[in-house]
Amino acid sequence: MKLATLHDLMVHELLDVYSAERQLVQAMPVMARKVSSAELRAAMETHLEQTKEHVERLKQVFELVGTTPRSQKCKGMEGLITEGRELAEEDIEDDVFDAGAIASAQRMEHNEIAAYGTLCAYASALGLDEVRKLLETTLEEEKATDQILSQLAESGINSMAKATA
Ligand SMILES: [Fe+2]
Ligand SMILES: [Fe+2]
Repeated sequence: MKLATLHDLMVHELLDVYSAERQLVQAMPVMARKVSSAELRAAMETHLEQTKEHVERLKQVFELVGTTPRSQKCKGMEGLITEGRELAEEDIEDDVFDAGAIASAQRMEHNEIAAYGTLCAYASALGLDEVRKLLETTLEEEKATDQILSQLAESGINSMAKATA
């Protein structure tokens, strides 16, 4: 399909992040099961529920822009998920894995933050206020999750990994 306008590019990017979110719904429970910290697992489970809402919010956005979501795999997120899975398959201490799982999860969050930030700007440029509001709600949840992950790393999980010998 030819991308002739900013609207076309926005739909292209929406399909990309829709794929990313749906891949995360599959991958996050696997990652959450492998971590040792109860706090980190709880944070991952909370964000899994938010991620399911992100998928639903994107369906609303597709309706608003008059597009039926179709398959377009986000290879960037696929790569990040593969790297997370590969880390879990290493011979790795539990506490060190927790620190690594946070690093992996934050890469995923930063990918989403970039995607939603761009999409919010496109929605503004196109005067799609309702779309922008929906995307902004998700963007704020991604940013908050990123901060929670930083706090968990810096308030204990990195030190636990450091103490592992
Ligand atoms: Fe998300
Ligand atoms: Fe996220």
